Amino acid sequence: MEQKPKIMQLNEPELIQSIQSGKISICIIGIGRIGLPTALSFANSGLPTVGVDINSKLIEMINSKTFPLKDEPGYDVIFEKVTNDKFNATTKIQDVVPNSDVVILSLPTPMNENNVPDYSALLSVGKQLGELLNKDSLVIVESSVEPGFVENDLISAIENSQKKLVAGKDFAIGVCPETANPGQIMNDFEKLPRLVGGIDEKTTNTIMKIYKHVFTVDLIPMPNCKTANAVKLTTNVFRDLNIAFVNELAILFEKVGIDIMTVLEAAKTKYNFQVHYAGPGVGGPCLPVNSYQMINLAKNMGLTLKTVETGRIINESMPEHVIDLLQDAFDESGKSLVNSNVLILGISYKPDVKDIQITPAQIIIEKLRKLQVNVLIYDPYFKSTEVFGIQTESNLVEALQKTDALILVTAHKEFHDLDPTFLKSKMKTPIVIDSKCIIDQQASKNVGLVYRGLGRGKI
Ligand SMILES: NC(=O)c1ccc[n+]([C@@H]2O[C@H](COP(=O)([O-])OP(=O)(O)OC[C@H]3O[C@@H](n4cnc5c(N)ncnc54)[C@H](O)[C@@H]3O)[C@@H](O)[C@H]2O)c1
Repeated sequence: MEQKPKIMQLNEPELIQSIQSGKISICIIGIGRIGLPTALSFANSGLPTVGVDINSKLIEMINSKTFPLKDEPGYDVIFEKVTNDKFNATTKIQDVVPNSDVVILSLPTPMNENNVPDYSALLSVGKQLGELLNKDSLVIVESSVEPGFVENDLISAIENSQKKLVAGKDFAIGVCPETANPGQIMNDFEKLPRLVGGIDEKTTNTIMKIYKHVFTVDLIPMPNCKTANAVKLTTNVFRDLNIAFVNELAILFEKVGIDIMTVLEAAKTKYNFQVHYAGPGVGGPCLPVNSYQMINLAKNMGLTLKTVETGRIINESMPEHVIDLLQDAFDESGKSLVNSNVLILGISYKPDVKDIQITPAQIIIEKLRKLQVNVLIYDPYFKSTEVFGIQTESNLVEALQKTDALILVTAHKEFHDLDPTFLKSKMKTPIVIDSKCIIDQQASKNVGLVYRGLGRGKI
């Protein structure tokens, strides 16, 4: 039987030869939104790849050749091409890791109800790796973690096992933080440069060689894991903070009678202004979590990140502001919110994806329920299903006919052409709260809608 190459013992020409001849075996643990496209990219490059996940339903789906990520264009085709040949999936980590040269971790890194980062998935898999890793194999962390987590916590979890493996000696470890945007992962995998940091230079170089084979993007070597993770968090905290800034301006401009969209469109003509848009809150598995990871890191260092904490407070207050706009519109209409039917248009945390992780829509819905409002939901990605205990609508017109007020929460493509005349003709009563400023305010006024736009003064 041919001896399998031990990846961290190969010299550079051997490594390149092994990669190019598909002799390096890959295991990806966590094949969700990011891990599955990653696994498919590796398999599509000719490297035998196995996905591991604790979600047995997901594994069954994959192995029966049903592609689970319908909102990720392009990957359905690759899935069809590589599954069963170069790519398989299993729940049995113990069957895969001992036979893998490279183990990639794409596990969730959420936060708990107190906004404290929860690294339990990575730490529990880390423990398992300590028992299962092949000597001289390579672990790559793609999950978003705070700087220092790999060096201080994950390595310890792997090392503190019966096998007593030592990082840098018995196994190598590095990071390649994932930065793709859901809904456009293929596009981002082809365009966004990636950061690579390793426990030592050889590890960084090895990861660079492997990723160069799989992805066409630029790879940027970092001095270590924590710096690569710091870059990843910095870009997302930057966004979270800038959104908080425009959200704060939006509330001010509403009072002054200035349209935030007019301001932003003009402001972005200045070369050093990078535009961000106001909205009903900041959700998803990345931005809020990454800000709290940075806050947590600072706390552990005895520091307070005042701007980041303030940004979080502002962004987390936006659902309440949306309710204030709704209340104001009801007051103008002389109607009571109690027992009214309010339609939420869009529940995804961002446009054009089927994803409701940490979505502001959920907070808005909870607040409305406390006010004894009957909440209806229409979202093209969640038709005729139950979300947040509500049976969602399948038909927009029928939903509008039952509706006293709508709140546009997610700017899905389908909502960009909403015509005020159409809304007026269909809605039971004509109240429109536009938290993304995509409905024409003047036209809304002209046809007699009671319109409130987040960041828009009344006209
Ligand atoms: N989704 C994004 O927008 C995005 C973008 C960039 C980076 N990230 C980061 O990538 C990482 C993964 O995120 P995601 O969005 O793909 O998450 P996800 O929830 O879609 O996928 C994670 C997968 O891991 C599996 N899993 C959980 N615990 C496990 C365990 N112990 N063993 C095996 N499998 C397990 C889950 O069943 C799930 O399928 C996170 O750190 C996230 O912050 C996400």
